[in-house]
Amino acid sequence: MPAAVDASQLVKTYTGRGGTVEAVRGVDLEVAEGEVFGFLGPNGAGKSTTVRMLTTLLTITSGTAHVAGVDVAKQPDETRRRIGVALQEAGLDPRQTGRELLVLQGRLFGLSPAAATDKAGELLELVDLVDAADRRIKGYSGGMKRRLDLASALVHQPEVLFLDEPTTGLDPASRLTVWDEVRRINALGTTVFLTTQYLEEADALCDRLAIIDDGVIVREGTPDALKSQLREQQGLDRDPTLDDVFLDATGRTRERSAGDVQEVHQ
Ligand SMILES: Nc1ncnc2c1ncn2[C@@H]1O[C@H](COP(=O)(O)OP(=O)(O)O)[C@@H](O)[C@H]1O
Ligand SMILES: [Mg+2]
Repeated sequence: MPAAVDASQLVKTYTGRGGTVEAVRGVDLEVAEGEVFGFLGPNGAGKSTTVRMLTTLLTITSGTAHVAGVDVAKQPDETRRRIGVALQEAGLDPRQTGRELLVLQGRLFGLSPAAATDKAGELLELVDLVDAADRRIKGYSGGMKRRLDLASALVHQPEVLFLDEPTTGLDPASRLTVWDEVRRINALGTTVFLTTQYLEEADALCDRLAIIDDGVIVREGTPDALKSQLREQQGLDRDPTLDDVFLDATGRTRERSAGDVQEVHQ
């Protein structure tokens, strides 16, 4: 069984008027089919850049990536057919209703009108938007928009779903609802690759995670393994939190990390 995501020595260098930025500097990733994989890191660490390379939205400077067994650089169209993507900036038309958006999305992916309508109904149920389905998106809350965006990434039944900071900027209640939906989507068989700045989100949702800092992966494993590793290393008498792991891995102090991690931007 091929890995859902298999990336080797991924590098992204941005070149612009301001000079060059090495945003991702040799990242290896392996995500098994069926996992919820967390990509954790502070602002500017290289999370979005990595996701954009894995989803064909950015060219890969060097290294290789396979998603669902497909070479991302060599077969971008085939890659796109197998993945769903919900990025930080959702591009939803505020005048449409949630249902209209999903039906249109289904039609764009080649479904018949009847199949697109069925699919939209099914997805609205999955993300708990049945009651709001026929209202215009402009009246939706931030959490509802995020959930609609999740649904629209699932119209073509992707094997791997990429979510870039799915809960950044949401209030705590909406965040929990999105977590539930991610679990439900994963339970139906979709591998989930999600980036987050929230440690408790990674702890709650992810089977495995990698911590990226300054373009380099600094720690990788299951949340439990990462905690017990640090516990042994520091001779602690109880398990540390994922917070402690993050601080140790990134060399940040608690104050700075709180600023980084809680800051809502982009
Ligand atoms: N289009 C771009 N041009 C130049 N630099 C960029 C561009 N996009 C991102 N960067 C830089 O690359 C680094 C990683 O950014 P990004 O992948 O967005 O991080 P994250 O998603 O973890 O916050 C940052 O230093 C950022 O300023
Ligand atoms: Mg980002």
